[in-house]
Amino acid sequence: MKLLITGGAGFIGSAVIRHIIQHTQDSVVNIDKLTYAGNLESLSAVSASARYRFEQVDICDRAALDQVFSEHQPDAVMHLAAESHVDRSIDGPAEFIQTNIVGTYQLLEAARAYWNSLDNQRKQAFRFHHISTDEVYGDLPHPNDENSVDRASAQHVDLKTNLQEPTVNVGRASARHVGLKADLQEQQGLPLFTEATAYAPSSPYSASKASSDHLVRAWQRTYGLPILVTNCSNNYGPYHFPEKLIPLVILNALEGKPLPIYGAGDQIRDWLYVEDHACALYTVICQGQVGETYNIGGHNEKQNIEVVRTICSLLDELAPAATRQLTAPNGTPLVNYSDLLTHVADRPGHDRRYAIDASKIQRELNWLPAETFETGLRKTVQWYLDNQAWCQRVQDGSYQGERLGAQQ
Ligand SMILES: NC(=O)c1ccc[n+]([C@@H]2O[C@H](COP(=O)([O-])OP(=O)(O)OC[C@H]3O[C@@H](n4cnc5c(N)ncnc54)[C@H](O)[C@@H]3O)[C@@H](O)[C@H]2O)c1
Repeated sequence: MKLLITGGAGFIGSAVIRHIIQHTQDSVVNIDKLTYAGNLESLSAVSASARYRFEQVDICDRAALDQVFSEHQPDAVMHLAAESHVDRSIDGPAEFIQTNIVGTYQLLEAARAYWNSLDNQRKQAFRFHHISTDEVYGDLPHPNDENSVDRASAQHVDLKTNLQEPTVNVGRASARHVGLKADLQEQQGLPLFTEATAYAPSSPYSASKASSDHLVRAWQRTYGLPILVTNCSNNYGPYHFPEKLIPLVILNALEGKPLPIYGAGDQIRDWLYVEDHACALYTVICQGQVGETYNIGGHNEKQNIEVVRTICSLLDELAPAATRQLTAPNGTPLVNYSDLLTHVADRPGHDRRYAIDASKIQRELNWLPAETFETGLRKTVQWYLDNQAWCQRVQDGSYQGERLGAQQ
């Protein structure tokens, strides 16, 4: 199989390409605009393979996309190219609308024209896999919220009320109702995101991804394009751009810089090791049912403060502060990295809790993450310790570690 992968020079796209070249016989054509987030060095382990090709293309450029489809004749598309950082979307939403919405539209149209030109057998086998995020669902009740159980129950009652009204979406609503009910029982009143959870994005980033998800599903309903959609929780792991929470904390700590905690630090995310995500995406493109959505999660709900404290403990063990001669904020020699924790104002519109119900992909496609949070985070910290030159080169670019996304 020949896969056309968009955004393959990014964090997750490069993990997908490394997975495919190293663990399968498939070929990959990587198309990427190489924005600040794209880095071909993340592909150095596989770029010499005869099964790998790179084309520097902007997904908003329809003529260039047509040329790529016609020249490479792919069997499937995995669409990861996106502007992906929430804080950047707050400072400048325009690029997010352009790439995530207009770019997805252009890619869908190029894929549809190409798909229509295929013979019947290849047309049947063709897939367009759109990679999205759990952030499209908005946020969930948080255990620290007053009346969080009441809020969850209220949501449940709302759904019940809605179900009594005539609707053309009874199947979906019922599934959502049943899913939510099961979750309420399972999570002591706190629901999870299921594939049928209603969209309620909070940030320009998540709204632009939600919009692209709708376009992809509409291209199936309207034109019959064989699509698959996956919505995944927060990823972490090697080659993660240093402005995201986990690499930022590791790199700041190693330099003795403050470790920023947004607000109380009690925001909950469900963390997935990026190589587990790559494996899940390959499973979906090979075995997923056309038209279906699969939620992908790590079964690891953690508060941000807990994540930062765990990184500090791992660094205390793997790269003790004393050996690096770092100074604590009070001017004395730094003993524990957690002494660098600094609370900063919260991000506007910050979602409180994300948590994925990933039982469908487990049940139907037999996929489960291989890493626990503890094993994945240990590997990640070790990778950043071993690859500080990569980080330095990435940081030499436009990103200089400044605080992004604080403006209201
Ligand atoms: N990082 C996460 O935790 C996470 C979680 C769930 C879903 N996702 C989704 O997965 C996908 C990949 O995320 P990531 O973290 O690897 O992002 P990333 O920002 O690391 O990489 C995005 C890549 O897309 C490329 N790109 C951007 N605009 C482009 C354009 N107009 N044309 C062509 N290429 C362009 C960039 O150069 C970069 O290589 C995104 O669609 C994101 O929404 C990410």
